Amino acid sequence: MEQSFSYPKTLCKEQFYEAFLADYSLYIEGETDIISTMANTAAALREAFGFFWVGFYCVHDSEWLHLGPFQGTAACTRIRFGRGVCGSCWSADESIIVPDVDQFPGHIACSSASRSEIVIPVHDKARNVIAVLDIDSDTLAAFDETDRKGLEAIIRAFEATVS
Ligand code: SME
Repeated sequence: MEQSFSYPKTLCKEQFYEAFLADYSLYIEGETDIISTMANTAAALREAFGFFWVGFYCVHDSEWLHLGPFQGTAACTRIRFGRGVCGSCWSADESIIVPDVDQFPGHIACSSASRSEIVIPVHDKARNVIAVLDIDSDTLAAFDETDRKGLEAIIRAFEATVS
């Protein structure tokens, strides 16, 4: 099924997220392979929003996240529980917005071009964190509450496909 995730730049950010969510929810519906859905989620988000880096880190065991499907430059493969922005999102089980990565204690720099980021937890049906969605920008303070709400809604649609 061909699907383009491209929207008019005239839409405000809320409308842009709404338009994306409508297409995205239909596109991923019925697919139960989580890696396939992660891969398409990263590709669709990159196409629509032009993010510098977007991808998943997946819970591997009680201590480690491993790099999952992503779009962007090559990245570090493992992140420990509670470390960096991704590990902190996992341990706190809440979304984290970092306006300036240099000000975040323990930030893990996979690319020196990354200046700000947002990380969203992904849950299974039992509400265990099974992965985090990590999005990086090459500009400072690129993410706000509209992004958090929009991306959490996208992840809720993703979680609906997870058993
Ligand atoms: N943002 C991360 C590291 C992963 S890269 O940005 C792709 C962190 O500090 O958790």
